[in-house]
Amino acid sequence: ITDDLTSDNGHLMIGGVDSVDLAKKYGTPLYVFDVSQIRNQIRKFKSAFEEVGLKYQVSYASKAFAVKAIYQVMKQEDVHIDVVSGGELHTALAAGFPSEKISFHGNNKTFDELVMAVQNHVGVIMLDNFHEIELLSRILNTDHEKINVMLRLTPGISAHTHKYDQTGQTDSKFGFDVESGQAKEAMKQVLDDPNMNLLGIHAHIGSQIFGTQGFVMLAKKMIAISKDLQKEFNYWPEVINLGGGFGISYNADDDPITANEFIKQIADELKQNCDDVPEIWIEPGRSIVGPAGYTLYEIGSRKDIPNLTPYVSVDGGMGDNIRPALYQAKYEAVVANKMDQSIVETAHIAGKYCESGDIMIDQQPLPKTDPGDILAVLDTGAYGYSMAMNYNRNPRPAVVFVEDGQDKLVVKRETYQDLTSLDLDY
Ligand code: LLP
Repeated sequence: ITDDLTSDNGHLMIGGVDSVDLAKKYGTPLYVFDVSQIRNQIRKFKSAFEEVGLKYQVSYASKAFAVKAIYQVMKQEDVHIDVVSGGELHTALAAGFPSEKISFHGNNKTFDELVMAVQNHVGVIMLDNFHEIELLSRILNTDHEKINVMLRLTPGISAHTHKYDQTGQTDSKFGFDVESGQAKEAMKQVLDDPNMNLLGIHAHIGSQIFGTQGFVMLAKKMIAISKDLQKEFNYWPEVINLGGGFGISYNADDDPITANEFIKQIADELKQNCDDVPEIWIEPGRSIVGPAGYTLYEIGSRKDIPNLTPYVSVDGGMGDNIRPALYQAKYEAVVANKMDQSIVETAHIAGKYCESGDIMIDQQPLPKTDPGDILAVLDTGAYGYSMAMNYNRNPRPAVVFVEDGQDKLVVKRETYQDLTSLDLDY
């Protein structure tokens, strides 16, 4: 996988920069993002839409990785973003991201978050439940504001992925249920509110999905729902948002779909089922930032147990990547300073956290390793830093962007002082 990324001295290169130099310069653990990979993926989505001739919008689901620098890249690439909390909204605005290109999601937006969204004139609020319609209606009335909204629907489609990553099935905490008529009632309330402009409908069926079948079913269902709503309310959506969830390849067993395949198939489905295809929005998170991210660790201790797989420990773990412990996610790694050496063993890659479950990679083929070697875990760009935490009071790593042979620190490493900065004496 990484043959073309190896320099003459056997080091892993990321974005034209020697990863071993990065580990020395910034310390470990370290998140590194190859920015040109991010830009390429966005351009692939865009050109796939251009090819099929649909009106479209790509909205980066920023929960996958939400720091000022990534919002600035998204601004440069002229895409929309979605945020799911006041904190993400604040970060995007602090980065100078244009508020009219922000969609605000979430199944329990607070009153204060909704006020913040209205006062900053976000592009669209994705309404998820009746409580929210009521809150927003009250805010708009008091503030004499108008705003675009979309309805998040639960279309009754189950994606084949980890249970925590499914969101489209009827038994879900997200969205208005279509089957039971909730969606119609919500539509009526929104259409009756003079301060809300209903831009369209939204659904998201899950995350890390392989295959196009679920998305094609969703496209078909969204048109059927639209036709139903048209009969009832004489309303045709300007936008249909099909959510995100496009899977990426974390290891050799994963077989993700390309942007082209997926967009061509939904375009065919949409065109077959209606004459006036609305603008199609997608909300990819993982597929935009996941493959562009690498985490560099230093290898430390080792435990050999007779007749069993050895444990090789690194200086990070579940605090910077919770996904193996939470979803049994499988990653692959390389030894960044020994890319030219042959594999001699298979080991468990263990983290440094006080939990037996803190195993980053269960079975990792390795060359002969020594303390001080740099392990690079691949494809960690999505839901790594954004889900990082301070368990065991380990500071969160720094984040570096690389592009065209240049590196730039975009998030500083947390310090021990940072860790106690919110603590008060008693
Ligand atoms: N749109 C909505 C409404 C979503 O809820 C999500 C993800 C996305 C878009 C983006 O999905 P993506 O393209 O990134 O798959 N922490 C989990 C993933 C949670 C996804 C939550 N929603 C993980 O690490 O696998």
